[in-house]
Formats: sequence, structure tokens, C-alpha cells
Amino acid sequence: MNTLSRKDFLQHTAMAGAAVLLSNLKTFASATDEKKIKVAVIGCGSVSGVYLPHLSKSPFVELVSVCDIKFDRAEKRAKEFNVPNKFPHIDQLLAGPKFDLMITLTDMQVHGMLNKQALNAGRNVWSEKPMANTYKEGKALLDLAKSKNLRIWGAPAVVNSPQFAFMSKALREGKIGKIAAAHAHYGHTGPTWSAFFYEELGGSLPDLGVYNIATLTGLLGPAKSVVGMTSIVKPERTVDDKGTITVKAEDNAMLLLDHGNGIISHVMSGFNYFDPYGHEGKGQEKPSILIYGSEGNMSLVGYDWAPWGVDMVTKDHEKSQRFLPDPGTYVWQEGASKISEALINGTEPLINVEHALHVLEIIEGTRASQKTGKRIELKSKFKWPVV
Ligand SMILES: NC(=O)c1ccc[n+]([C@@H]2O[C@H](COP(=O)([O-])OP(=O)(O)OC[C@H]3O[C@@H](n4cnc5c(N)ncnc54)[C@H](O)[C@@H]3O)[C@@H](O)[C@H]2O)c1
Repeated sequence: MNTLSRKDFLQHTAMAGAAVLLSNLKTFASATDEKKIKVAVIGCGSVSGVYLPHLSKSPFVELVSVCDIKFDRAEKRAKEFNVPNKFPHIDQLLAGPKFDLMITLTDMQVHGMLNKQALNAGRNVWSEKPMANTYKEGKALLDLAKSKNLRIWGAPAVVNSPQFAFMSKALREGKIGKIAAAHAHYGHTGPTWSAFFYEELGGSLPDLGVYNIATLTGLLGPAKSVVGMTSIVKPERTVDDKGTITVKAEDNAMLLLDHGNGIISHVMSGFNYFDPYGHEGKGQEKPSILIYGSEGNMSLVGYDWAPWGVDMVTKDHEKSQRFLPDPGTYVWQEGASKISEALINGTEPLINVEHALHVLEIIEGTRASQKTGKRIELKSKFKWPVV
């Protein structure tokens, strides 16, 4: 979360465009006339079991409704977290008791459609990744939100961690000299509960690669082009909701990004990567992000969604030093709670929707590169540096 005071923020936002944004946020904060954002959660599966405990503890959130087409799941979550209203369909959710922010935690394939319906009904949106199936669909959502004076944000929240902030600052201050290259990886043996991860428009890129792509572009700047390869390693899977299915989306992906100024980075993600830490990731003590420069190198210890240290070696200090050996208060599931806090306080959060859209364009570009064998130029950008 940006820790600028309100006064500093006002000065900071004297730039064109930002003033408009601030005025929107202020309008929202005063229009709510409340100290809490009224929230509805759509999708009451696995991830809702991590989001809802965090949201229910937030002093900025009032949980109004939950919704799931598998209605028993909505009923269960409503009971568990004392949510007064539960619905089996978005139409009923939107027609029900008023709320300010919809949190979309459904199958990836329907995020765009549900997010659009919520915006059209005058609701702000926090969406799990991806916020839409294509960059074009995502950009249209942002334009729709702007036209209605609403906000939309997309996960992940990796830019919120203190380790991200530390690395960003160290890079900007030239601590490792001229930056040349970076690598990031994240994978496990794949979700076992739902088929959508393996169906058309699912895949390891929007589920897992998305974190590393957000981290590397967040640290090194928007990418100008991407070259990628994807594959399906395991053509059949057995999952809880549909039994044995044919895998349609990539379960293995590698991509190279050109960040300009000679900087090239690499991301590797997939659903066939044995990792003793599994989906939970507990106990991971190795670096998953590495950045090399002419005078040093830096690595993020743990996963970027659950980091707990930054190791750095430099020409002047060849013995590796560990910084921020503590996760602090940051948790990956905090995005929607932090957005609610920002809406109440009239501040601008670090998480930025243009960044989420850029990541989405890279995911699409990687698939296009695999299909065509070509390097894909990227057109989207976001406000950088993030911190
Ligand atoms: N599970 C995790 O640990 C985790 C972590 C981070 C992010 N995510 C992301 O969260 C999202 C959901 O993942 P999950 O693991 O919770 O999946 P899940 O299958 O456990 O839950 C998805 C839920 O959405 C419901 N749903 C589907 N279409 C709907 C619709 N049109 N209206 C209402 N409800 C609908 C399903 O019935 C299901 O209960 C995905 O985007 C995933 O990438 C998951």
C-alpha cells in the first residue's frame, strides 16, 4: 500500500490525469458515507477459503453477499463467515442488497463476462487473475469502468510485498550496476480440484506464470516484445469435478521478455514441475527470482507471492547478504482488502490495472508466439516504476 499521507498524495497527484483519479476516489469515499466498503464475493471455491478470512478481518470491509452457481458452496461460505445474503446467480446477486465492490473468484474463463456485468450494474471490481480472457476484452472493461466513474483491478498483488519494494529501490539506485538479465520460475504438479485450469483459456500462464510476469515487469519495466514456447506435457488429467479430462490449455510455458535498454528476462511456469513444497508452497527456502547486473546480483527468496527475503551480492560485498528476512504483514490474498482500504481512505493503491492488462497482453503474446513461431510486439504500458 502506498503510504503517502493525504497531503503528500495531493501534492504528488498534481500531475495531469492523476488529479482526475484522486477526485474520483474522493467522490467514492464521500459518496459511500460509511467507514466500510460493502463487498460481494462471487465464486465460493478453493480461493474464497483464503480470501474470506482476510476480508472478514479487514476493518474496511463489510461482507454483504456471496454467490456461486454451485449454491451449496455459497451457503457454506455464508454460514462460515456470517455473510447475510447468498445467491446462486450473478443476476440475483446484482439485484440483491446494494454493495460497492464485487470480488471475482470464479473459473478463469468467466471473469471477463462477470466483471462486465458488475461494471454495467455500477459496481467496482476486484478480479482474480486474469481479469479477462484477452487483452482486448480487459481493455474494454477498463474503458467501461472509466466511462462509469468506477474502478477495476486485477490480481496478483505481488507489488505490495516489502521485498518487491526493496528490490525495486535497489535496482533504481544502481546497487547491482547496469541490469542485464533476470529469471523467474513458478510451478507445481497442478490443481486437482477443477477442470477449468486445463480447459481452453485456462492454463499455467494465467494461473501461475502471471505472478512472475507481474514481478519482472514491475521490477524491470513494461516489456516491448515477447518470444515464447508453450506445450502440453500431460494430455490427460483426473480432476475432482469432471473426472478424466483432455488438457486443452498449456501446462508448460517459457517466455523471454525484452524490457528495453538491453534488459532481457525469462519466465518459466507449469503444472508438471515437481516441487516438494506443492501448491501450498510452505517451506520454500530457495530463490525463485534472480536479477543480474554488471556490479552485483539479487534474488528473491521464496515465491514472489510469499517472499521472505532478498539476497544480494555486489562487487563491494561479495559475501551474500540477506535483507528483509521476514514476510512482514504482506500476504498474496490481501489485494481486495487493500483496495477496499484505499477506496475508504481516498488513496491510490500500488496495484495498478494497466499493469494487470500488460501482463495479460504478455500471456496472449506468448501463446501467439508459440502458434506463429514469431516474436510478438507489445503495445500496452503501465506507470513505472511501481514503487
Ligand atoms: N485456489 C487457489 O489457491 C488460488 C490462488 C490464487 C488465485 N486463484 C484463482 O482464483 C480463481 C478461482 O480458483 P479456485 O481454485 O478457487 O477455483 P474453484 O474451482 O475451487 O472455485 C471456483 C468457483 O467458482 C464458481 N463459479 C464458476 N462459474 C461461476 C459463475 N458464472 N457464477 C458464480 N460462480 C461461478 C464455481 O462453481 C466454483 O465454486 C482462479 O482464477 C484461480 O486462478 C486460486
